[in-house]
Amino acid sequence: MPPLPPGSRQPAFLQTIQMRDPVRYFETLRRRHGPVFRMKLLGFPPQVVVSNAELANRIYATDGDGSRAGALRAGYVPWVGEHSLLTNDGEEWWRHRKLLSPTLHGRSIAGYPDMIAEIAAQDIRTWPLGTPFALREHMQAITLEVTLRLVFGVADPHQGARLRAALMALSKASGSPALFLTPARLRSWAEKSPLAARLPFLPTTRAMQAAKAVDHVLFDEISRRRNEQDDEATDVLGRLVRARDDEGQPMSDQEIRDELLTLLEAGLETTATGLSWTFERLMRNPEVLGRLQEELERGEEEVYLDAVIKESLRSRPVIFGMGRLLDKPLRLAEYEIPAGWVAIPMFSLILQDSTVYPDPEEFRPERFLGDNTKAAQKSFLPFGGGRRYCVGAQLATMEMKVITREVLRHVRLTAVDPAPEAQRMWHATLVPGRQAVAVAHEQPLERRPSAEPATCPVHQAPAEQGS
Ligand code: HEM
Repeated sequence: MPPLPPGSRQPAFLQTIQMRDPVRYFETLRRRHGPVFRMKLLGFPPQVVVSNAELANRIYATDGDGSRAGALRAGYVPWVGEHSLLTNDGEEWWRHRKLLSPTLHGRSIAGYPDMIAEIAAQDIRTWPLGTPFALREHMQAITLEVTLRLVFGVADPHQGARLRAALMALSKASGSPALFLTPARLRSWAEKSPLAARLPFLPTTRAMQAAKAVDHVLFDEISRRRNEQDDEATDVLGRLVRARDDEGQPMSDQEIRDELLTLLEAGLETTATGLSWTFERLMRNPEVLGRLQEELERGEEEVYLDAVIKESLRSRPVIFGMGRLLDKPLRLAEYEIPAGWVAIPMFSLILQDSTVYPDPEEFRPERFLGDNTKAAQKSFLPFGGGRRYCVGAQLATMEMKVITREVLRHVRLTAVDPAPEAQRMWHATLVPGRQAVAVAHEQPLERRPSAEPATCPVHQAPAEQGS
């Protein structure tokens, strides 16, 4: 009988505490135990972690027959609902994947860049010049506005302000590490218990209340869009209202609501964080920034910009790993992992594999250019893999490119402190420890885009806020 992989002998609660700094903890375990090791976190099934792409692909090969991804994300059900792509497996997952994918790919999003650039430009014009500020907050504001317009299709400013306020409250409430690390059973009790519902300081209670407020606005919006019957609508909600499955059946209001919240939950923080890291890295690598500026000024095909975005997601992956619950035993190298365990391709290790990415701590977009591309691309897994590969990867990459370009057209950014920002855990993501703090400076005249009024779609006029 093949052995189990090596791993920490510490009790589960001590291993769980180490998750305050997951990147360092995983790196320590990899150094100590090799490319496959096991872990035990409080309240979760036993886990096996792999740190290279070859082993990750063995895990992805079990997708659909041998493992489940949705079961592991059951903790999201209270706010994304029962019909979410994130939390489902099997036929329901497949039905939804087929309905949702076309709304986020190819021609469906081809018309978005101009609108994204306009949203970004409006926010950038409100940035302070010459004083430090947290870039991440602005990236969150811009990506939220993009989601409101391109996913939810909100055009009415009053409805937009209501939804914006409710979504921000939900993002804050559902993003706390306390909630993420609460064992599933305790969470499930707290979410259903009338006693817990009366304790507003509990993270579960705060998240449930925030989700209810969002529902109120969303069901209104779905019903309005059904009545409108606009066949030309290009936003995701408009497309979902028109979508039909293989049996010709439309999605119910509840299914659409669940998928809209899924896109928000999976797409908002991730893209904002990816952008924050891109600027955090660019500010600390002036040569890369200079080469990128030159490419953007020449107005050529954005090959280097594409490599910068990839290198940013490689060197600072937004999500450190995403696992599969094994339904059957799985052979990984010389080990056999039993059914019931969780197998995790750990992106934060795979993307630092020095056999694929020499000097992995260096920020070097050239890895993704010319002859190097093939090898670098093979291990490039910040969006996961297999059948559950991120459905929003194309949209996220395009959004990151457009917003990065727009920021660099408007301002010159410098870091307040040359030391890199630490990778801190926030929800399932790794965010810059100081929120990507930056100082913005005016661009020289010749680089500045034409002046337009400084109105911000996100920080609305006081009368509209909270209405
Ligand atoms: C930089 C931004 C993003 C990153 C790094 C990211 C990363 C990921 C990762 C690692 C997964 C898990 C894949 C797996 O299990 O193998 C995932 C799944 C998912 N992502 Fe993203 N994502 C990003 C942006 C987005 C956006 C913009 C959307 C939608 C608008 C989105 C929607 C989803 C959904 C719905 C899933 C679940 C797919 C399924 O299980 O079938 N993501 N993402």
